[in-house]
Amino acid sequence: MKKGKKLYEGKAKIIFASADKNQVIQHFKDDATAFNNLKKANIEGKGILNNRISEHILSALKDAGIENHLIKRLNMREQLIDLVDIIPIEFVVRNIVTGSLTKRLGIEDGTKLNNPLIEFCYKNDELGDPLIAREHIYAFEWASVIELDYITEQCLRINDFLQGMFKGVGIKLVDFKLEFGKRKSDGKIILADEISPDTCRLWDANTDKKLDKDRFRKDLGDVVEAYQEVARRLGILHEQINNVRPIKFLKPTAVKIKKK
Ligand code: TMP
Ligand code: ASP
Repeated sequence: MKKGKKLYEGKAKIIFASADKNQVIQHFKDDATAFNNLKKANIEGKGILNNRISEHILSALKDAGIENHLIKRLNMREQLIDLVDIIPIEFVVRNIVTGSLTKRLGIEDGTKLNNPLIEFCYKNDELGDPLIAREHIYAFEWASVIELDYITEQCLRINDFLQGMFKGVGIKLVDFKLEFGKRKSDGKIILADEISPDTCRLWDANTDKKLDKDRFRKDLGDVVEAYQEVARRLGILHEQINNVRPIKFLKPTAVKIKKK
């Protein structure tokens, strides 16, 4: 697959043009950020792991009838994906209360929700991805009532599927973030972006040990080891992604982090 010019560089990924105008190449970097870019590091091997884990999850979702942007993995760090017009909303699905929800509402960390909770955040780093209501989505025409109903239904189906997938390998799916976009080729709303330990909270079912990006956010150490553990349990760990070196900070004298 011939790689075209760079179209966009985000915090953890780069998008390149491909030979087809409706398809692009998504490259997974090793960079990690947290707290809206205040904390940065390079975690050697993370991009390779997220590429594989996301491929595994998106392929399984496709097999279960949930359309998404993945066409195929191209190599260790890259995937061919459908080009979409991204809807500027982060859809956060929660099964257990933690993270920003604990801070915002003071609900005890670890409280199990009786039903999954879906939150909408406006995708804007400068504003800190603020929580918004359905009405904001309609008012600013980010999605129609029908589109939003469809997306929230997809979120619940994806939650159901992923909860089962992770439960089977001894992992609790605590919460996660999804993005959706309109596919350029046909305008259909599909699941886009990665699903990986960068975008999910994953706790060991027996010990509640964190196996996700919270290890980086909270300086718990063993970030890559935790991602490897997720890949290993999902049955996708390759020899090539073993023996990656430990976390390497880009700015050792990092800025003071304002915890969300
Ligand atoms: P939160 O508790 O910080 O709001 O995060 C909820 C979930 O969404 C958690 O699994 C991490 C994920 N997430 C992202 O993937 N990207 C983001 O920018 C944020 C804020 C959260
Ligand atoms: N929006 C955050 C950042 O990249 C991501 C996170 O905390 O997961 O800074």
